[in-house]
Amino acid sequence: MREKVLLSLSGAERKWSENMNVIEERKVSDSMVETVHMVRPNHMNAAGRLFGGMLMQWLDEVAGMVAKRHTRSNVITASVDNLHFIHGAYQGEMVVIIGKVTYVGNSSMEVRVDTYVEHLEDGMRHAINRAYFTMVALDENDKPKRVPRLILETEAEKAEWVAAEKRKEMRMRRKKEGF
Ligand SMILES: CC(C)(COP(=O)(O)OP(=O)(O)OC[C@H]1O[C@@H](n2cnc3c(N)ncnc32)[C@H](O)[C@@H]1OP(=O)(O)O)[C@@H](O)C(=O)NCCC(=O)NCCS
Repeated sequence: MREKVLLSLSGAERKWSENMNVIEERKVSDSMVETVHMVRPNHMNAAGRLFGGMLMQWLDEVAGMVAKRHTRSNVITASVDNLHFIHGAYQGEMVVIIGKVTYVGNSSMEVRVDTYVEHLEDGMRHAINRAYFTMVALDENDKPKRVPRLILETEAEKAEWVAAEKRKEMRMRRKKEGF
C-alpha cells in the first residue's frame, strides 16, 4: 500500500515515506543490461546450432547482473519461466541479450530477458527467446531482504508490472501445489 502512494508522488518526495525513512527506489532503466555474444564453435550443439544450455547460462548471467544493479546486493535465481526457444542461432551470428526489471515484490524481483539474433547485413534484430527470471536479494546472512522499489515511467512498464503480478500469482500457486 505504501509503495502505491509513493509511486504517485514526484521528485524529491519519492525519497521519503510517511514516517520519514528513506525509501530506496530505482528506475527500470537504471539496471537494464545488454550483452552481445558471437556464436563460436565451442557454443554449438551436435545439431549445429547454439547449445541451449549455453544460452541459458548467458540469460542467467544477464538476469543476475540486472538484479544486482537494482539491489546493489547479492542475489540468487529462485525460478525461471516462460523460457521459449523460438528460433535457433548459428555459428558466426551475433546474439543480443537484454534484461530489465519488470516487477519487485518484497525480497524478490522479476527480470525479463529477451534474446535476439542481430543480422549484420541490415542491423535488424530477430527475437529468438524470452524468459522471466525471479531473483531474490540476500542479506549478509544469506536471508531474503527487501529490494528497492521500482519507478515505473512508461505505459509499457506499467503494463509489464500488471502482467508480472499475474505471473507471480501463478508461480506461487504452482509452488503451493508442488510442481
Ligand atoms: C529462493 C529462496 C531464497 C526462497 O526461499 P523461501 O524460504 O521460499 O523464502 P521466502 O518464502 O521468504 O520467499 C522469498 C521470496 O522468493 C519468492 N519465491 C520463493 N520461491 C519461489 C519460486 N519457486 N518461484 C518464484 N519466486 C519464489 C517469494 O515469493 C518471495 O518473494 P517476495 O519476498 O517478493 O514476496 C530459496 O528457495 C533458495 O535459496 N533457493 C535456492 C536458490 C539458488 O541457489 N539458486 C541457484 C543458484 S543462484
